[in-house]
Amino acid sequence: KILILDFGSQVTQLIARRVREAQVYCEIHPNDVSEDFIRAFNPRGIILSGSHASTYEDHQLRAPQQVWDLGVPVLGICYGMQTMAVQLGGSVEWSDHREFGYAEVRAHGHTKLLDGVEDFRTAEGHGMLKVWMSHGDKVTTLPPGFKLMASTPSCPIAGMADEARGYYAVQFHPEVTHTLQGHAMLDRFVRGICGCKGDWIMGDYIEEAVARIREQVGDEEVILGLSGGVDSSVAAALIHRAIGDQLTCVFVDHGLLRLNEGRMVMEMFAGRLHAKVVHVEAAEQFMGHLQGVTDPEQKRKIIGREFVEVFKAEAAKLKAADASAKGAKWLAQGTIYPDVVESGGTQTKKATIKSHHNVGGLPEQLGLKLLEPLRELFKDEVRELGVALGLPHDMVYRHPFPGPGLGVRILGEVKAEFAALLQRADHIFIEELRKTVDEATGKTWYDLTSQAFTVFLPVKSVGVMGDGRTYDYVVALRAVQTSDFMTADWAELPYSLLKRVSSRIINEVRGINRVTYDVSSKPPATIEWE
Ligand code: XMP
Repeated sequence: KILILDFGSQVTQLIARRVREAQVYCEIHPNDVSEDFIRAFNPRGIILSGSHASTYEDHQLRAPQQVWDLGVPVLGICYGMQTMAVQLGGSVEWSDHREFGYAEVRAHGHTKLLDGVEDFRTAEGHGMLKVWMSHGDKVTTLPPGFKLMASTPSCPIAGMADEARGYYAVQFHPEVTHTLQGHAMLDRFVRGICGCKGDWIMGDYIEEAVARIREQVGDEEVILGLSGGVDSSVAAALIHRAIGDQLTCVFVDHGLLRLNEGRMVMEMFAGRLHAKVVHVEAAEQFMGHLQGVTDPEQKRKIIGREFVEVFKAEAAKLKAADASAKGAKWLAQGTIYPDVVESGGTQTKKATIKSHHNVGGLPEQLGLKLLEPLRELFKDEVRELGVALGLPHDMVYRHPFPGPGLGVRILGEVKAEFAALLQRADHIFIEELRKTVDEATGKTWYDLTSQAFTVFLPVKSVGVMGDGRTYDYVVALRAVQTSDFMTADWAELPYSLLKRVSSRIINEVRGINRVTYDVSSKPPATIEWE
């Protein structure tokens, strides 16, 4: 296994992810872990991460001496390279100005790390790599025993190696996808240079995670807010695998979920997994509080606040009903790694919790400890884990669904009657997207889009049906393609698909007589309408 020492870079988890992609087990720990810990961990190799872009003042951070005494290969990345240079007798020029960007790096000589790894060759025959580089601080003198491995005009020592000891370091970031060969380099380091086997799979992750959860929780009780979304579902399945009936899931149905969502969640978790699930039907309560409210942010606040209220009340009931009067000691959340980054927390620095789709502030209010077993994983890894845990593919590969649900897809005031129309219209849209296969790719349009949904417009328009005039509501279909949800393009759905959806909605959902398709990109529009 590989030990990754974290100096606080935002992208340290990406290193872990690449190592896992090479099917090698790894763990991330803070750069100042004890020497005893490192010895006990007994790694086959160590990777030193980069540091924050703005932590010039942190340039005193060092790797524990044990790293150099263990006799295992070490790879330093960015800041990791600099500390390696300083600790082994080279020198570094520190600068408070750092820039990140694309660079072309020349690979020198033949090192086990870079030999034969290149993106193109110059006219002179030099092997070149396209990388994501951080300029600024740089190594100016190689430590004794090291040779030059890579360089750029502005950074003459962009890579160095002491192959006798298995020490390698690069100034650029092999863990980010902009470094085209980064994956290959990390694979080479962990499998080739460290000699890890590369037989670690998601199934192993389950066993390890299960053991960790059992150790953390002991015989205490855990509660979890199950939303039906991917993250909370996978967290629930994993924790249930670990501690069975010590877990109670609370599923709050605020009446603004997708059609049949409540039934599906209950069938899956209570029915198939035999987990303890409390199904709270709170639609009336939510609708009551939303009455007369039209401002989108206000609606979000109310839904968030009511969710917390309902959840707290359920937690209190559970506690009262518990004969042993122990009550839950843990609140489990499906926080995943991108949530951790978004809220500005890294492993070593202050870790705050995103309030967004997770239950903000609840653990403190309830006096519960937080259990977040997916904290290290990326979305696609969470999905893979879900499938390995036996959750249905369709559930695990679902589009994201916002916490406030249909509350922000019914423009203006939210009414139960609007929600009922929208649920049915949206169900038809999603059903057709799932059914329609694109011939060019062989994929369904559901899989070809990142998020697709229907928006309810509280305006009426005139139509004609049979001999009669209708005066009914309008919906808009929205389907986008995006990799990060920060920018998005509207999807060029086939006309035939749009035609089918429109005709089905108008014929099957009484009360809607007009369907439109949203052709706005983000920016300047957002994905949701509110
Ligand atoms: P926008 O509309 O900002 O959406 O382009 C970007 C992504 O965020 C989701 N979204 C939310 N998710 N609570 C959530 O949990 C919210 O209040 C919320 N608002 C937007 C949206 O569905 C899209 O995936």
